[in-house]
Amino acid sequence: NGLKIARDLVAECEAVALDDTASAAERQAVLGELAGVVANVEDWTRKAISYIRSIKAHSRTAGGAAAPIDLPRLLERDLQPLLMHRLRLAGGQLEFRLAADLPDLYGDASRLGQVLANLITNAIDACEGLPLARQRIVVEASAPEGREVLLNVRDLGTGIIPAARERIFDEFFTTKPPGKGTGLGLSIARDIITGEFGGTLACTASGPEGTIFTMRLPLRAPEPAARSAA
Ligand SMILES: Nc1ncnc2c1ncn2[C@@H]1O[C@H](COP(=O)(O)OP(=O)(O)O)[C@@H](O)[C@H]1O
Ligand SMILES: [Mg+2]
Repeated sequence: NGLKIARDLVAECEAVALDDTASAAERQAVLGELAGVVANVEDWTRKAISYIRSIKAHSRTAGGAAAPIDLPRLLERDLQPLLMHRLRLAGGQLEFRLAADLPDLYGDASRLGQVLANLITNAIDACEGLPLARQRIVVEASAPEGREVLLNVRDLGTGIIPAARERIFDEFFTTKPPGKGTGLGLSIARDIITGEFGGTLACTASGPEGTIFTMRLPLRAPEPAARSAA
């Protein structure tokens, strides 16, 4: 495949570069080939990016079933078992602190679940390898003044490096090694929260002792069509 060709060619270039007997013409030829491969990689990358963008755009318009969302149930019944597996492997804890009077949200529960799973997965990544006391993630939900639902995902991880703070919501921005991070999690999460729930998602604190992501979700009445269908 393409990547193997690129790798072989780089090895060949190294060999020629290190070979004192190689002529200028040989070096020139190898460099020419290398430039061709780089152009190819650029081309594949552009195609991959536009493909991923089109998937994102499509999933935005697909719009799942909107219905009342029971937040405690979404967190404790649907998400916890999914995420505890990874967290337990690491010895960590996931705690929910949910206000007793939480109103129902309205929308596609699986999309909100996707956002929460992304935030919690990031939090797990951020405390990986730290002492057990720091492998602890808290999800808080409250409804201040009954007008909106406020959700915090807090971790005691290593925090976001200041230089990255501005860019974490950018598409494809990641500080994780290839194969681990895609840099799409937060960008998709913000799209969903603003586009589908009319809310906001931001990093409200981050330092060497941990990070807080905060979501504000306005309480909305169901769409008239959905109400009559229910
Ligand atoms: N809870 C967190 N603690 C520290 N850094 C974080 C946290 N959440 C996100 N980040 C930073 O934001 C970047 C982008 O996150 P995301 O969009 O989910 O992509 P990915 O997880 O694939 O890297 C991460 O690579 C990481 O540097
Ligand atoms: Mg992520």
